[in-house]
Amino acid sequence: MSSASDIRQAFLDYFAKAGHQVVDSSPLVPRNDPTLMFTNAGMVQFKNVFTGQEKRPYTRAATSQKCVRAGGKHNDLDNVGYTARHHTFFEMLGNFSFGDYFKDEAIPFAWNLITREYGLPKDKLWVTVYHDDDQAFDIWKKIGVAEDRIVRIATSDNFWAMGDTGPCGPCSEIFYDHGDKVWGGPPGSPDADGDRYIEIWNLVFMQFEQVSKEQRIALPKPSIDTGMGLERITAVMQGKHDNYDIDIMRTLIEASADFSATDADGEHKMSHRVIADHLRSSCFLIADGVLPSNEGRGYVLRRIMRRAMRHAQLMGCKEPLMHRLVPSLVSVMGRAFPELGRGESLIAETLKLEETRFKQTLDRGLKLLDEATGNLSKGDMLPGETAFKLYDTFGFPLDLTQDALRARGIGVNLDGFQSAMAAQRAEARKAWAGSGDAATEKVWFDVREEHGASEFLGYDTEAAEGRIDAVVVGGQPVTEAKVGTEVAVVLNQTPFYAESGGQVGDTGLIVTAGGAKVAVSDTQKKLGLLHVHVGKVTEGVLKAGDMATLTVDHKRRSAIRANHSATHLLHAALRRKLGEHVSQKGSLVSPDRFRFDISHPKPLSAEEASAVEAEVNEMVCQNTDVTTRLMTPDEAVAAGAMALFGEKYGDEVRVLAMGKLGDRDYSVELCGGTHVRRTGDIGLFKIVNEGAVAAGVRRIEALTGEAARNYFAEQEEILRSAADALKAQPREVPQRLAALLDDKRRLERELSDLRKQLALGGVSGGGGGAAGPQVRDVNGIKYAARRLDGVPAKDLRGMVDAMKKEIGSGVVALTSVADGKVAVVVGVSTDLTDRVNAASLVKLATPLIGGQGGGGRPDFAQGGGADPAGAEKALDAIATALAS
Ligand code: ALA
Repeated sequence: MSSASDIRQAFLDYFAKAGHQVVDSSPLVPRNDPTLMFTNAGMVQFKNVFTGQEKRPYTRAATSQKCVRAGGKHNDLDNVGYTARHHTFFEMLGNFSFGDYFKDEAIPFAWNLITREYGLPKDKLWVTVYHDDDQAFDIWKKIGVAEDRIVRIATSDNFWAMGDTGPCGPCSEIFYDHGDKVWGGPPGSPDADGDRYIEIWNLVFMQFEQVSKEQRIALPKPSIDTGMGLERITAVMQGKHDNYDIDIMRTLIEASADFSATDADGEHKMSHRVIADHLRSSCFLIADGVLPSNEGRGYVLRRIMRRAMRHAQLMGCKEPLMHRLVPSLVSVMGRAFPELGRGESLIAETLKLEETRFKQTLDRGLKLLDEATGNLSKGDMLPGETAFKLYDTFGFPLDLTQDALRARGIGVNLDGFQSAMAAQRAEARKAWAGSGDAATEKVWFDVREEHGASEFLGYDTEAAEGRIDAVVVGGQPVTEAKVGTEVAVVLNQTPFYAESGGQVGDTGLIVTAGGAKVAVSDTQKKLGLLHVHVGKVTEGVLKAGDMATLTVDHKRRSAIRANHSATHLLHAALRRKLGEHVSQKGSLVSPDRFRFDISHPKPLSAEEASAVEAEVNEMVCQNTDVTTRLMTPDEAVAAGAMALFGEKYGDEVRVLAMGKLGDRDYSVELCGGTHVRRTGDIGLFKIVNEGAVAAGVRRIEALTGEAARNYFAEQEEILRSAADALKAQPREVPQRLAALLDDKRRLERELSDLRKQLALGGVSGGGGGAAGPQVRDVNGIKYAARRLDGVPAKDLRGMVDAMKKEIGSGVVALTSVADGKVAVVVGVSTDLTDRVNAASLVKLATPLIGGQGGGGRPDFAQGGGADPAGAEKALDAIATALAS
């Protein structure tokens, strides 16, 4: 057994045999701890198990945990490359007991593994205990360790804490003696700082929880947390003193040497070590969802990457180097960590992009640095403003500048750097103050300045812990807010998406460690980088500074994801079916439906709409992975990505690709929104509305997933009830309806004819069954009048015309009462229009039927009212008028 992989496996097998559950390494971005930048120890994923907050189905576990120590409490970045054992990335082997066994078993477990399984000679081993831990001392003694090799240590070296808060306890460490060729003394001796005696395993007897700086409480049950650096134990087992000489590191160093055409152990030895270490941390961070940025975790990643890239440049590499080393890393670690293989192309692209971009300023920055330090010598300081210029203009993180000057013994004036940074912030604020929103935005500037940007975790998770940085009530920051208060809350990190790019903000719940609850009804973005959770305190007292668990409304977010991804597929489908002129003019992505506006001159035909729907649904059924990459906006557009309307893009953009057409991506778009993991998660796609919003802009409304299914169910229900009413099968509905409509038209025609006949029957004195003569002579004028109830006003006109024809010369007046409306219509034959005016007759008749006005031409006029009692009177009044 000699490879690092074998040593890892032997550790896990050993503890599995002893009843431990072998658990996968957790991601490097801890979701259960807002105080931690990165997972920095094996126990991080079990933090809440130790404190009793979380239960697992096992009480013993073993892991090989990925750890990054860069940024935060345990920060080793500056030392990497210069020492034998500092890493930004390393693996920690650990066994854990959650209130199960304690010291008396943990110590023998460790001792037996290293002396029997790993076969380390006992005379090479030393141990330490916390100065007052007699119990641990006795257990070591009993196991056979000589008393003079059990060293009591009183310092924090033997009291382990994860961070400023969290589980902690006294610890006992096992040291390996690398022999007298290396300088150094045993632990606790004056020469302990030397490199001869190396700590290989730390056994922490977890007994306490540090709740705050002042308060430490006992854990529910004493527990065990241990940590053994895989690289260190591998070095011991491979007979190496230096971690960078073990198999994994050597493979990477040699790859770096090969690709840079330099000697692995020559003048660039240090650079190869930096590159090998930083390659590991960069690749694992990217695989766990961190991408380089200028804030928070992304910035730590960028610092690591750029530090390595500067070393590549120092070795004379003209082309980007880091991305070429990724396959070597996958070959040595990909089996134990399959996420490396899964993320390989994203990792390589991200490294290449970063290195390509950094190269553009690196040479000029280094030149500036040379000029600025030409006259400086050991012990001098580089002015802070120069370091800031390198940072701001040339993308040199501060620690890169420090690293570059370190060999020459030149420092950087940090105060000067900070004041240059503060001056720049003040400028930015002034510029904003001119933009109009200054008064309302002031509070956010203050929050931003004090606490920095909110880190968004919501691409990968919908639940996480965060620290409450600010509680704002009515535009003012407060220290606490009581039940019922409307609040705006900012945390250092959050899984809540803040409204942007057409996607609505998340809703959900914030629960603080102090027992307060906030129902979040919206999340808004302020100053481009603060996620402001808007909601109401529903329980307890919300306090700034508290830790909190944030949970996004999962169902709502899933629906939003599906809708957002569907807009991308829809966009691509529209361009393919309607033409390349189609571009996005706006969108609104909400949980229940989405709206998508496009430039297109005319309505979508039914065929076009169903062709678009069919293609989107084909992509949905394809169920391929949705991938995210990071690029510069220019590169993204060159790669065929469609830029979003109205969106401002930073230096880097996320590029979403989904669906496949052969081996090409179906849709490629720049987008900061949240999306489904696979296209199949969209479920189903349906356009429900299409219309115009402005000249040349069409709006499409569509549904996905459950909403689309509900829509179809509703449509089916409507069809079923129509079929029931027709006493037919659903498929017979169109035919039956067509027949019914034909019938209806025929019957209407017949009815209308009958009414005409009925009306006319009175004129000729026969037919139609109407009673009584209807034509009178009034003042020498033939006057035909009739009340025809049930005949709609619109039919009266035709009847009047027919009656006029029938009587030749005369006046015809009809009234009718239909559907509660009363109509009067008067016709005058043209030979009489200079004596009798139809419009005047209607005007005098209309008031009698309860109406007003009425009118028309001299030969034809009509009026309407609502009083049926007047229908006869109106006819009589016309007769009277004719008589006078
Ligand atoms: N958590 C302990 C450490 O990191 C084991 O050393």
